[in-house]
Amino acid sequence: MTTAGSDQDLRVRIAGELERARNRSALLTEAVDETELMRQHSPIMSPLVWDLAHVGNQEELWLVRDVGGREPVRRDIDDLYDAFKQPRRDRPALPLLRPDEARSYLGTVRDKVLDLLDGVRFDDRRLVTDGFAFGMIVQHEQQHDETMLATHQLRIGPPALAAPPPPPALVPVSGEVRVPGSRFTMGTSTDPWALDNERPAHVVDVPEFFIDAAPVTNGEYLAFLTGGGYDDERWWSGPGWQHRQEAGLTAPLHWRHDGTQWGYLRFGRYSPLVMDEPVVHVCFHEAEAYAAWAGKRLPTEVEWEKAARWDPATGRSRRYPWGDADPGPEQANLGQRLLSPAPVGAYPAGASPLGVHQLIGDVWEWTSSGFEAYPGFSAFPYREYSEVFFGNSYRMLRGGSFGTDRSACRGTFRNWDLPIRRQIFSGFRCARDPRPEETAG
Ligand SMILES: [Fe+2]
Repeated sequence: MTTAGSDQDLRVRIAGELERARNRSALLTEAVDETELMRQHSPIMSPLVWDLAHVGNQEELWLVRDVGGREPVRRDIDDLYDAFKQPRRDRPALPLLRPDEARSYLGTVRDKVLDLLDGVRFDDRRLVTDGFAFGMIVQHEQQHDETMLATHQLRIGPPALAAPPPPPALVPVSGEVRVPGSRFTMGTSTDPWALDNERPAHVVDVPEFFIDAAPVTNGEYLAFLTGGGYDDERWWSGPGWQHRQEAGLTAPLHWRHDGTQWGYLRFGRYSPLVMDEPVVHVCFHEAEAYAAWAGKRLPTEVEWEKAARWDPATGRSRRYPWGDADPGPEQANLGQRLLSPAPVGAYPAGASPLGVHQLIGDVWEWTSSGFEAYPGFSAFPYREYSEVFFGNSYRMLRGGSFGTDRSACRGTFRNWDLPIRRQIFSGFRCARDPRPEETAG
């Protein structure tokens, strides 16, 4: 979505994006049987069949009822699929639609949406300008598809999903990149499908900093682990150490030691650690402790975004590290094409002008920032999208993972989660301030 184009072009693009999202939801929910769809695989996740019907319910609320002004399909199920009214732990006990009922409901809603899309005008209300509400619903379904992929990773049982192996590293990438101090335009006012929390564009003065050229790898993280990092309180924040003790953290989620070496259990398959792949399934506290052990810190959100978007030749902010064009398979590991991060150095075509690699895709990257509104923020289309989450309880994640679709991933895209969460596809890279001898002038 770089330009709105004609209404007909936009209709075709929206229909294609809706179909892509639905194909992904279908693949994830047809991979297991009815019992597994109804089961709760972890108390912090919904049964897959809840995610599925919830996706349809949001599509009905925003597109059928609000944009289309049409009669409700199933008003009686609104409360069941309201994420604010139903805590995740309670969802398996609800009188949920059975998988066949949920699929049929999604089909009915989608037929109505495609029908109203045919005649919709994109310029008469803010909700439909440039197809925004449709873009919001596409991103919503794709975000639930990533959540459902995380549920698959938590599921116990024989493998249900398959993917090709990741591409090899094409170039060596290591060390740090210096990002000079300058003014930087963070966020966007023009990206048509950007969500309220990414808006508006605003200028921030960012002092010089250094950032890792690549995400922290399994091999690097293993050195922290085997060096006693989990047992040394010095590296952990107060809340981090408390959580490490209470939760008994000793390694990233899904890591296993088979008696001789470390490996991971990934979508039902065990394999030895691949040392040059970005580490994944670490919580914010683990990322922060590693950074302290390495003599560094996590980047702030604005530092991450500047590393990803700033063009040093023009000072302009790009949509992505490589420019404004949508991501292709040669630039980033996105869209569940693979079921793991790819090795560091696998995507030289996706690097930023300063030489920072794999900012987009592979693993979500923890930053040190809480969830704050940008200056001039206004909630749209509703407070529950972002505003109710603002504050210091969450930590921001950037860049998307192998499980994230390109429609829900931009240089400006902001994700947030609790600092203890690690069922998500989360990793990190480190940053630091310049040492006195390194500062220019
Ligand atoms: Fe949702």
